[in-house]
Amino acid sequence: MATLFRCDLVIRNALVFDGTGAPRRLADVAVAGDRIIAVGDCSATAGWVEIDAAGKALAPGFIDAHAHDDRAVLCGPECLHCKLSQGVTTVVVGNCGISLSPLVRDTRPPAPLDLLGDASHWRYDSFAEYAEDFSRHGSAVNAIAFIGHTTLRAREMGDAELGRTATEAEAARMKDRLAEALRQGAWGLSTGLWYPPANAATTDEVIAIAEALTEAGGLYATHMRDEGDAILEAIDEACAIGRAARVPVVISHFKCIQPQNWGRSVETLARVDEAAKHQRVAFDVYPYPASSTVLLPEKLRDDVRVVVTWSVPHPEMQGRDLDDIARAWGCTRREAAVRLLPAGAITFQMSEEDVRRILAHPRAMIGSDGLPHDSFPHPRLWGTFPRVLGRYAREERLFSLEEAVRKMTGLTAETFGIPDRGVIRPGAFADLVLFDPATVIDEATFEEPTRPAAGIEQVWVNGEAVYRYGEGPTGARPGRLLKNPKARA
Ligand code: CU
Ligand code: ZN
Repeated sequence: MATLFRCDLVIRNALVFDGTGAPRRLADVAVAGDRIIAVGDCSATAGWVEIDAAGKALAPGFIDAHAHDDRAVLCGPECLHCKLSQGVTTVVVGNCGISLSPLVRDTRPPAPLDLLGDASHWRYDSFAEYAEDFSRHGSAVNAIAFIGHTTLRAREMGDAELGRTATEAEAARMKDRLAEALRQGAWGLSTGLWYPPANAATTDEVIAIAEALTEAGGLYATHMRDEGDAILEAIDEACAIGRAARVPVVISHFKCIQPQNWGRSVETLARVDEAAKHQRVAFDVYPYPASSTVLLPEKLRDDVRVVVTWSVPHPEMQGRDLDDIARAWGCTRREAAVRLLPAGAITFQMSEEDVRRILAHPRAMIGSDGLPHDSFPHPRLWGTFPRVLGRYAREERLFSLEEAVRKMTGLTAETFGIPDRGVIRPGAFADLVLFDPATVIDEATFEEPTRPAAGIEQVWVNGEAVYRYGEGPTGARPGRLLKNPKARA
C-alpha cells in the first residue's frame, strides 16, 4: 500500500463554499499548520485529525466587518462565545469612532466611548501597547483594528472641550497619533459623527486627521453624521473625506432611520453606486430592523419603541421598554431616559424592507455591530451571521448561500485588504467554519438575546479548533491581531 502524506487536519466530502461566490462543490480540504494546503481530492492524504463532513457546508471563517470587540478579544475565549458560535473567525474592531487605544483614563469616559467599559479598561497609551496586550493574552479570533476619532479627541482635547471643533493644533496632534498607530499596525480611522460630542467635528477636522491614512494606505470607516433626514448629505461627506485622503471608505451599519425615511434605501444605495464609479466605497449591514447603542435622551422620538440594554444606576431595568419604565416612575420618557444614564438601548427605527434591500445589494458586507458588554444585548451580537445564512438566504431566498458566504468572507477580506483570508484555496490561512446548510439559523431573539446559533458545528482559526457545537469554545487562542500590510513594526 502506498504511503500516505500526513497533515494535521483533513475535512472530507464537504460542500465547499470558497468565499468568492463561486458555486459550491464537493471537495476535501487539507490543513497543515495554520494554512490550507489542498482543496479537492485528498484521498492520498491522511490527517492526524479526520472529519467526515458529508452533507455539511465548509466556508472560510466569517469576518465580522463591524464589531466593538476591542475589549472582548482580550478577555478570553468565553467572552467570544457569541462570535465563535456564529462561525466568526476575524473581527474588525475600533468602529464608530470608538477604540480602546490610544487613551488612558482614570475616570469613566464620556458616552459613547463607555460602550467599551468604565475607567478600568482604558490603559493603552499607544496602539503598540494594545497589540502587546493582545499577544500576551491570546485571543480565540483574529482581529483588525481601527483607531477611533472620538478616542483621539478625548485624548487630545480633554472632556470639557469635546463639544467644539478641534483647533488646527489639536487636529495635527490627532493626525500624528493616528500616523503612529498606523505604523504600529492599525488598519485605519473610524468616526462616529452622529454622536455628541464628536458631531462638533467639522468635515475639515476629519480630513485633517484622515490625511495620515494616505501614506499608510489605511481605510476610513464611518458611522455617518446622519442616517435619517440628511443621509444623502452624510454619504456625500463620507465620500468627500475618502477622496481628500485618497483612501477607501466603509460606511458602517448602512440603514435608513426614523419612519419618515423608510423606503429611502433606493436613493441611498443609488448614491453609493454613483460614488463608487469614482472612488472606493463599501458598506456593512446587520440583518435587523432595530439599532442599538448608548441611550441618548436628546435623540428620543415618540414614534419609535426603545428597550433598555443596560443602565449603571438602574441595572434592574435592563430588557424593559422605556415606556413601561416611564409609566412605572410616573414621568416622561425623556425624564426616565435621563435617570437611567449612563445606559444603553435598542431602538426599533428601521423598516424590514430597507434592511432586505440593503442586505441584498452586491456591495453589502455583513457586520454585526454587536455590543459584547451590554447586559441585555441586541440579538445581533449572537445571531447576525446564522440569521443571514438561515433566514435571508435559505428561507427567504433573498440571495444564494454562495452569495451570503461571500458577503461575510471574500468580499470583506477584499474590501479591507486582509491578505490570504476570506477564501478557501491552497495557501490561504485555515480559518474555517463547518455548518449544516439545512438547519443553520439564529436562535437569539429580542426576548432571549444570548442564545447560541443552531447549525454551526465546528470552527477553526489558523488551523486550530476553537469551537464545537454543544461544547462551546475549546479554550484555544490561536487568533492574531493582524497588522496593516504597510505597518513598519
Ligand atoms: Cu458600531
Ligand atoms: Zn455605529
